[in-house]
Amino acid sequence: MELTFAITGASGAIYAWRTLQLLASSGVVERINLIMSSTAATVAQVEMGVNLKDPALHQINDWLGLEPESRLIRLWRLDNFAAKPSSGSYKQAGMLIVPCSMGTLGAIASGAGTNLIHRAADVTLKEGRKLVLVPRETPYNAIHLENMLKLSRAGARILPASPGFYHRPNNIEDLVDHLCYRILDQFDIPHSRKTQWTGEEVAEE
Ligand SMILES: Cc1cc2nc3c(=O)[nH]c(=O)nc-3n(C[C@H](O)[C@H](O)[C@H](O)COP(=O)(O)O)c2cc1C
Repeated sequence: MELTFAITGASGAIYAWRTLQLLASSGVVERINLIMSSTAATVAQVEMGVNLKDPALHQINDWLGLEPESRLIRLWRLDNFAAKPSSGSYKQAGMLIVPCSMGTLGAIASGAGTNLIHRAADVTLKEGRKLVLVPRETPYNAIHLENMLKLSRAGARILPASPGFYHRPNNIEDLVDHLCYRILDQFDIPHSRKTQWTGEEVAEE
């Protein structure tokens, strides 16, 4: 499976980091076309203390704990409209934006994108492929909500970065992982953890 994965400047760099690690270890993802906005690097610096400004592939691999020579990830520049994910004729399973800022969400909803992340998302929708957006903001204003509704109607899957508590997380890692597993579920990508509610948890007498 080949996917495009974008990281934007919303809070939650850890979701991108962990989802990429899980995709890498899933055994079914052969190539990830990675695009990062410039603010994504700022947020990663603030939240994870990592320098990803104009990163080289080996820096991304190092951040994710992959082998330095791993070719799983292909890094594309944000201004490269000739990149593979820019064209619908380049076939892949779909695209994820984790986390997705309100700025990127609005640009995609307007159809007037200005960078490769916007273009790749637009192409994913027009080709009828799966587009999973993980927005993060609080509170949402009416513009954010309207943009999400518009994108949902256009076929995008809106999966907010709102972790659940019903699996009884013990720490931040548990909280983050559960959301990342739900992201993987959107593409039926196998993972080790149970995310399906069975009803047995509150079994009736
Ligand atoms: C530390 C930090 C946290 C931010 N958190 C959010 C957020 O949670 N949601 C959001 O929509 N924007 C957030 N922003 C603002 C976006 O980064 C900003 O709107 C930016 O223009 C988004 O651009 P991009 O979508 O190209 O990454 C944050 C910015 C910084 C520096």
